Amino acid sequence: MKNIAVLTSGGDAPGMNAAIRAVVRTAIHNGIRIYGIRKGYKGLINGDFFEMDMSSVSDIIHRGGTILQTARSEEFKTPEGLKKAVNMARIFNIDGIVIIGGDGSFMGAKKLTEQGIACIGIPGTIDNDLAYTDYTVGFDTAVNNVLDAINKIRDTSTSHERVSIIEVMGRHCGDIALYAGMAGGAEIILVPEMECSLDCICRTLIQRRNMGKLHSIIILAEGVGNAKDLEKQIAEKVDIEVRGTILGYIQRGGNTTAADRILASRLGARAVDLLKEGNAGRVVGIRDNRIIDMDITEALNMERKFQKELYEAAEILASNMK
Ligand code: ADP
Ligand code: F6P
Repeated sequence: MKNIAVLTSGGDAPGMNAAIRAVVRTAIHNGIRIYGIRKGYKGLINGDFFEMDMSSVSDIIHRGGTILQTARSEEFKTPEGLKKAVNMARIFNIDGIVIIGGDGSFMGAKKLTEQGIACIGIPGTIDNDLAYTDYTVGFDTAVNNVLDAINKIRDTSTSHERVSIIEVMGRHCGDIALYAGMAGGAEIILVPEMECSLDCICRTLIQRRNMGKLHSIIILAEGVGNAKDLEKQIAEKVDIEVRGTILGYIQRGGNTTAADRILASRLGARAVDLLKEGNAGRVVGIRDNRIIDMDITEALNMERKFQKELYEAAEILASNMK
């Protein structure tokens, strides 16, 4: 490996910068030339490349977002787009690419590898929706951002004896809701992986009120539904004041937590080592605090297991009276 490149793709995630830093510095340490590709696969198709050095990644370890910017490219998904991307990599003599993104980006990495461009994937998404790794880069920061919001909303909802619904991201995955809900002591956690009827939600709220509880926090994963709809549905069934908040992009920004910086740094270094050792079409991840790598197709085919024990534990703890 003489020349490699790095790109970020899909939704940005805090910790992508720490991963870019690790990739760039590990490559240079090993005498490998490293290019940054701007705007994900869009930049790969357009040749939006620039050579990076040690100082290109100074002062970014703490920052959310991605200095390489990110994009979603429909063109790349077409056979013509893929061909353009492969040609561009060849023009720049790129032997390998480190791709930081989620499962969609990994599909792209798989296709590039099949065309002879060695790719290694780093899981960068707040959603924590990849089955092969315990955690994705960005998840911990997003959970902490939600937690910060829960603490603030709790103050006002207690003062008014209101029920608060906090809608969080995660696409089809309930992990952000589960972890933030547990850490924030939410009374009800609604995730796509576990069924919970409107009657069941209303019953729980009434029971809590009858027990003397002044307020309740419901964490709603976006994969289940919308906070404003649920607000209306609850208000139509029971005489309880409800307010919905959609946290939105606040979850994806801000300073990266230590856990995400360390994870990103470990994964970035391993990704370059894998390329250096001649590997292609693999993804890196973490299991039981050990950095692992596996075949990208195998990783994409793995079925995600929801942490039901954690959900049930959170449910039991939430039944405590204030
Ligand atoms: P994420 O990587 O966070 O899951 P997306 O699903 O939006 O985000 O995917 C990011 C980009 O990866 C897409 O815009 C597209 O360029 C590329 N991609 C997604 N799915 C495929 C696919 N099936 N084949 C090739 N490229 C894909
Ligand atoms: O995949 C990360 C994520 O933040 C999801 O949680 C969310 O559903 C989606 O991206 C939002 O995407 P966009 O940035 O296109 O609004």
